[in-house]
Amino acid sequence: MKANTSAFLQSSLENNLDLNTIYIQITHELRKVENLLKEMINSSNPLINEIGNYLFRKSGKRIRPALLLLCSKLLGYKGTQDILFSALIEAIHTASLIHDDIVDNSELRRGQPTVHAKWGPNITVLLGDYLYIRTIDQALKNSSRKILEVLTEVTTEMVEGEITEYYHSGNLALKEEQYFDIIKKKTASLFRATCQISSLLAESNEQVEFQLAEFGLNLGMAFQIVDDLLDFTGDEDRLGKPALSDLREGRVTLPLIFTLQEGNSHLKSKVTGYFQNKGHSEGLRNEILEIVTKNGALKYAMAKAREFGERSKKLILDFPASIYRDSLVLFTDFLLNRDF
Ligand code: IPE
Ligand code: IPE
Ligand code: MG
Ligand code: MG
Repeated sequence: MKANTSAFLQSSLENNLDLNTIYIQITHELRKVENLLKEMINSSNPLINEIGNYLFRKSGKRIRPALLLLCSKLLGYKGTQDILFSALIEAIHTASLIHDDIVDNSELRRGQPTVHAKWGPNITVLLGDYLYIRTIDQALKNSSRKILEVLTEVTTEMVEGEITEYYHSGNLALKEEQYFDIIKKKTASLFRATCQISSLLAESNEQVEFQLAEFGLNLGMAFQIVDDLLDFTGDEDRLGKPALSDLREGRVTLPLIFTLQEGNSHLKSKVTGYFQNKGHSEGLRNEILEIVTKNGALKYAMAKAREFGERSKKLILDFPASIYRDSLVLFTDFLLNRDF
């Protein structure tokens, strides 16, 4: 254990790491974020209210708001705009999820039927658009041009990442670098923007802004690699979303890329067969799962996630010691070791 590790960090590491412990410094602010999110779907249109209430009834992990709040506090920010921007970032995330669930033919999110499974894709696309544009409207009225730019650019980047991933569905020749580029755009970019916004709110210098943005980017990469691993190994009830769905949808993620690079032609034909049948063969699916487990692909992907996580930690440990820095270190460990 490092000499500068605080008592908080020490005791949290000794006990089981959970989100409540990591969020302990920001519970009050997170509650306000929840209220703002509910206000965002407050409309004279009853359908927007109905679906919006359903959408925010089960909250997710609230990783991005927590990240923005903790980073702002790390930088000594004393204002209240961090609460608003945490809500706006979470609204962008939520909009991306409801669109993503249509693209991925996914029927379950946060332990309940997805919005499109309940109301159909037509209205779901519109609700996602509504959330995106309300976010930009609120940002326009409340922020500097620079923050507005960060928000519009990250939204574009995320959609681009989703489109590129979709375009490469079923592409067994996908390279690791292409996979990293996709996850950087679709997921890590929002983590980066989240951290960058806190430094803009705190009016930090450019060096700090860059360092915090890099922290977020690396954390987001680690997060998505773990998410893709959980698609292979996770428990559907615990995840609150379908497991083994990437394979069903033809999404080629890191464990599969590793295995295919090994020149495993036996696997290649099995995966091709599985993709063509669109997941109708459970036996084939289990065989693929067994191959990626036995050949070390899951371990390889986890090691890559840890590399990104270590980079994040190194960047955050460069900031002066504080309870918020400790929480961000714990957060990184939590995101690497999570099972939901
Ligand atoms: C899921 O993100 C989408 C990805 C980018 C992998 P989260 O795991 O943060 O989802 P919620 O908000 O907790 O449901
Ligand atoms: C979600 O990626 C990324 C965005 C919503 C931009 P995934 O499709 O891999 O995430 P899950 O598994 O549905 O949460
Ligand atoms: Mg998905
Ligand atoms: Mg997806």
